[in-house]
Amino acid sequence: MPINRDRLSNNLYELAKIGKIGETGVCRLAHSKEDRQAIQVVKGWMEEAGLITRIDEFGNLIGRLEGRDKEKPILIMGSHVDSQPYGGRFDGTAGALGAIEVIHTLTDDGIVPNRTIEVICFSDEEGCRFNKGVFGVRALTGMLEDGELDRKDKNGMTRRDALKEFGVEPDLSKSPVYQKGDVAAFLELHIEQGPVLEAQGKPVGIVSGISGPIWLTVTLEGFAGHAGSVPMNLRQDALVGASEIIRQYDDLVKRVGEDTTVGTVGSLQVFPNSRNIIAEKVEFTIDLRDIDLERRTSIEKQLYHIIEKTASAYNLTHKIKEDTRSGPRYCAEWIKEIMKEESDKLKLYSPVLMSGPFHDALFMSYMCDYGMIFVRCEKGISHNPLEFAEMNDIENGVQLLYQTALRISQSNEKE
Ligand code: CO
Repeated sequence: MPINRDRLSNNLYELAKIGKIGETGVCRLAHSKEDRQAIQVVKGWMEEAGLITRIDEFGNLIGRLEGRDKEKPILIMGSHVDSQPYGGRFDGTAGALGAIEVIHTLTDDGIVPNRTIEVICFSDEEGCRFNKGVFGVRALTGMLEDGELDRKDKNGMTRRDALKEFGVEPDLSKSPVYQKGDVAAFLELHIEQGPVLEAQGKPVGIVSGISGPIWLTVTLEGFAGHAGSVPMNLRQDALVGASEIIRQYDDLVKRVGEDTTVGTVGSLQVFPNSRNIIAEKVEFTIDLRDIDLERRTSIEKQLYHIIEKTASAYNLTHKIKEDTRSGPRYCAEWIKEIMKEESDKLKLYSPVLMSGPFHDALFMSYMCDYGMIFVRCEKGISHNPLEFAEMNDIENGVQLLYQTALRISQSNEKE
């Protein structure tokens, strides 16, 4: 059955009024008044769709539709409704409300799924308030770290107090709700937040995986000297060394020639940062992502070689600090297969693409098989009030989510 496009569209634009800033922006920081208001409204929509709802002690909103067979591992769908401080209307919400629309269509049609289906609005996906995100999904899967409730926002409020104000009593001592084996599959629809689908002229994409980043901080040290007096051949200029490394790193990653291989230097600090002193120390960041772990490792090795060679050529010392290392997480073949078949039936002929950004699905992937659907977004703009996705594209994506969910919930795969 086709999903109800008007209902979904109305709900999306209704939700965008909560925490509205300017004409098209939203600000719904995790656990804030606006977040609570949004969760309350979405909870009502879940109930109208036929889900039994609860809000857990970490602020996750969970809706449940009982299946015929209580023994079968369940199907979970979901995303988030919290936003960046200067965010858009579709990030997270398209997937959260899309999943509810899927359930509403099922119950409208009188379909009782074989396996139980849950829809989750995960709390604090964005992570901007407490500088650490994907909080709700990590709580549900037992991946919270010690001291997380003591993290403070910029006003000095702890996450614990923010959650209490939100209306829940956080408790780290409880064991996670889901264990391996409880869940057959997790499905998330999300706007692409990138330009690939637009460039290919396709409304919907099937995600192959989420590429985890390597984050490094590189420090080069030379020797400061007067810009007017030190001859060129005697210099130990850390900034010239850094520029050489940055340029070669860019070349190296570009030479791979894959959309899925990306390298960025987004931050650079120069000491003493004065126009008439040769730069003594430069610190810059490396962000490297690739869905292919072997290729990423090979690029990383070559990058280390570039850094060593350049440092020695410019007579600099170098240090490399590792900040984050997360492996790529691949979507399950069997789910991609179902998505492909259903997408062809809908004549969407969706291309397969990887996800550079993180999503709640990244953490669900440590517990169960997962699949993701991307919806084209204008110019790839996201985390910005200008973020925009066509209702037609969202409708197509949610229809694909519906058909995929129906197949998985009725099937005997992953018994
Ligand atoms: Co998001």
